Amino acid sequence: SVIVVIYGGRSAEREVSLQSGPLVIDGLRSKGYRVIALDLYGPEGNEDPIRQLQSVDFDLAFIALHGGEGEDGRVQALLEILGKPYTGSSPLACGLAMDKVLTKRYWKGIDIPTPAYLSFVGQVDVAVIEEQMSYPLIVKPSREGSTIGISKVANREELDAALIVALEYDSDVLVEAFVDGPEFTVTIIDDVAYPAIGLKPAPDHKLYDYEAKYIAEDTQYLLPCGLNEDDENELQMLALDSYRSLGCSGWGRVDIMRDRAGAFWVLEVNTSPGMTSHSLVPMAANYVGLDYAALVEKIALSAWH
Ligand code: DAL
Ligand code: MG
Repeated sequence: SVIVVIYGGRSAEREVSLQSGPLVIDGLRSKGYRVIALDLYGPEGNEDPIRQLQSVDFDLAFIALHGGEGEDGRVQALLEILGKPYTGSSPLACGLAMDKVLTKRYWKGIDIPTPAYLSFVGQVDVAVIEEQMSYPLIVKPSREGSTIGISKVANREELDAALIVALEYDSDVLVEAFVDGPEFTVTIIDDVAYPAIGLKPAPDHKLYDYEAKYIAEDTQYLLPCGLNEDDENELQMLALDSYRSLGCSGWGRVDIMRDRAGAFWVLEVNTSPGMTSHSLVPMAANYVGLDYAALVEKIALSAWH
C-alpha cells in the first residue's frame, strides 16, 4: 500500500515538521512501504493543499504536520472528505486538543486536574489578572505548539510584554498558574501509555522551551522518569484519561507537571507530536525496544484500527 507522508505546512511549527517529515519517510521506506512525500502548501507556501492531496494516489496518510491546520483538525477533515484513512485523532478531537483554552474549560468540568487559568480574546487589562492570580504566571497563545509564544513572567512588566508576544500568535490567550515542579510527558499509541519521560532543561532555561526542545544539547531527559512505580502508574493513567476525554485516537503525547506536594497537573494533549531526532515519542518508543522505523510503522498501522 502507498502511504503519503504529509509534512511542512505553514504553521509556526513548520520548521519542526520539516525535521519530522523526512525521518518518518525514511522509516516507512525502510519497512518496505511505498511512500510519497508531500510538503503541504509547498516550500513557498503558495500551493493549493486540496489540489496537492488530490494529485497523489495513496491508501493512507501519515500526518507529520505540527500546529495549525495540520494538528487542529482541518487537514484531518479534508482527509475525511476525501475518504482516506489517516494517522491520529479525528477532526473534533484535534480541534479540542489544539485549543488549550477549550481543553482546560472541558477538563474543569470532568475533574481532570489542570492548572488554574484565565483566558482572554485580544487585549486585556493586566490589573484584572493580578486581582485573581499571583506571580509567577505562564502566558500562552491558546493554539500553538513547541512552546512558541509562551513566557514565564514574575511581574507586571514581564506580563505586559508576554501578552504582546502571545497575541502575535493567537487572538486567544491563556494565563496559567505556574506549577513549580518537574514536567513529564507520556506517549500514547494504540491506547497504551508508554513509560513517562522526565524533562530537565539546563539551568539557563526557565522552561522546557523551543530551544531546550530542538536546539540545546544539554536538556536532560530522564528515562526512567525517576518516579516510583505507583506514581508513574498514576501519571500514565491520568495521561490516558486526559487523552481519552478529548476523544483522541491512534497516537498522541500528554504533557503533565508535578508540583512539590506530588500532585499532577495536566497541561495539554498533542495530537501530532514531534518526530524529530530530539523528540520525545521516539525516545519513549526506543526505551521499550521500538526503533524509529518500527515506531512509524506502528503509528501507521494504528490508523487502520
Ligand atoms: N508540538 C510539538 C511538535 C510536540 O508536541 O512535540
Ligand atoms: Mg503542544
